[in-house]
Amino acid sequence: MSVAPLGALLALACWGAGAAAQQPAGPALDVASIERGRALLANRHETGCVLCHVVPGFAAGGELGPSLAGIAQRGPADQLRQRIADARLLNPHTIMPVYGNVKGLQSVAPAYQGQPVLSAQGLDDIVAYLMALAR
Ligand code: HEC
Repeated sequence: MSVAPLGALLALACWGAGAAAQQPAGPALDVASIERGRALLANRHETGCVLCHVVPGFAAGGELGPSLAGIAQRGPADQLRQRIADARLLNPHTIMPVYGNVKGLQSVAPAYQGQPVLSAQGLDDIVAYLMALAR
């Protein structure tokens, strides 16, 4: 998925110049990936995050899962990434879908077998968006 330069400029305007001066921990947080992360979070068909979570920056959010407001203060970026990739690591009975793993999944349509819902890049982009909410 490519990001239009206009989108990058808008993201820069929204997030302010502080986006460049991030703390060293976690993946590289560039403006484009924050913007892609926002697009992924918003996509009800591909991820459905906002169907279950209140996410700052989105008008509507679901309440099946905890609000993701202030999530960056609750732990480091790599743990956040793990939780999104496979929430079963912390709670084997979670209702949260598995986004970054294909192990142990059942009833996957043949066309999707062997492919995680989100790519490594997609996970990084979502983490970038959520970590940027810290400021
Ligand atoms: C079907 C509902 C559902 C969907 C869709 C969903 N989640 Fe969750 N999520 C949950 C629930 C419920 C929890 C609570 C923890 C548990 O079940 O173990 C959770 C926990 C989390 C946590 C940990 C929160 C904390 O306070 O520690 C994060 C981060 C998270 N989800 C992010 C996401 C992201 C990003 C997406 C989309 C890629 C997503 N979730 C999609 C239901 C959902």
